[in-house]
Amino acid sequence: MNHFLDISEYSAAEIEDILNLAIRLKKEHFSEGNKPLFKGKVLGMIFQKPSLRTRVSFDMAMRHMGGDALYLSPAEIGLGKRETIADVSRVLSGYVQAMMARVFEHEHVVELARWATIPVVNGLSDFSHPCQGMADALTILEKFGSMKGLNVVYVGDGNNVAVSLMQVSLMMGANFIIANPAGYDMPQAAKENGARLAQGDQSRIKYLSDPHEAAKGAHVIYTDTWTSMGQEEETAKREAVFPPYQVNAQLVSEADKDVIVMHCLPAHRNHELTDDVADGPHSVIFPQAHNRLHAQKAVLARLFGVA
Ligand code: CP
Ligand code: NVA
Repeated sequence: MNHFLDISEYSAAEIEDILNLAIRLKKEHFSEGNKPLFKGKVLGMIFQKPSLRTRVSFDMAMRHMGGDALYLSPAEIGLGKRETIADVSRVLSGYVQAMMARVFEHEHVVELARWATIPVVNGLSDFSHPCQGMADALTILEKFGSMKGLNVVYVGDGNNVAVSLMQVSLMMGANFIIANPAGYDMPQAAKENGARLAQGDQSRIKYLSDPHEAAKGAHVIYTDTWTSMGQEEETAKREAVFPPYQVNAQLVSEADKDVIVMHCLPAHRNHELTDDVADGPHSVIFPQAHNRLHAQKAVLARLFGVA
């Protein structure tokens, strides 16, 4: 593995291997502690957008494994503005041992990887959020033991988080059902991924507009913000369209009785997810957030070729 830009670039076997490693590193973390396998390694973290989870979980993942991390804020780097992406990538490649970048355009993280002589990780782009997808799969696996045959239902905007969840769900043998309003579908490139990754009878993809139809038989109900970072000028328009797609107690009551409710966070409480559901018995949103740590340790370990 050279880079970690999008889950669909790996085989199902490779993704499963990373998830198994994440389970092992998590166990190790809570027993004897992780071994210092990242000793001497520094992760450069480029952020063009805000972050709590991605920033802190990557930083802590590096420290727990004996390495270090360096935060580079949007104001500092000016990716593609102060300096070309190609130059940033070649300069950083001589200072740190891996980079993680949170960018607006997916093409920008691809461009970083094109010029880098060190591994590059996508820490969220407008197309996908692969590290989130890995933590989501880890969370589902912990709850159900296997993803095979599960109905993973995503309700809301067909955004970056939906795309990575779709990819990992299909690859791990789950059905992926998305219910979104007209005009808020996943991008065409993601649908093409979905058509390729769906494994016939094993894992199917279904596109719906009715969240209630989607919720029937759901083992996972997942939602995310109606307005992603970078789309702020569309907030009012989106707030008018999305309310029927709110994940609330009624929708959850229509799912399988053991359904888990997921959200990548940050949540806009009582918009896409009501307080009672977010803090209710089906919610796994905090263990899900914590699993970013363990999933990312496994991704980094594979990129560094250790563990
Ligand atoms: N889920 C997630 O990526 O959160 P942050 O934006 O806080 O990093
Ligand atoms: N879809 C959201 C996810 C935030 C973690 C965004 O891109 O803003």
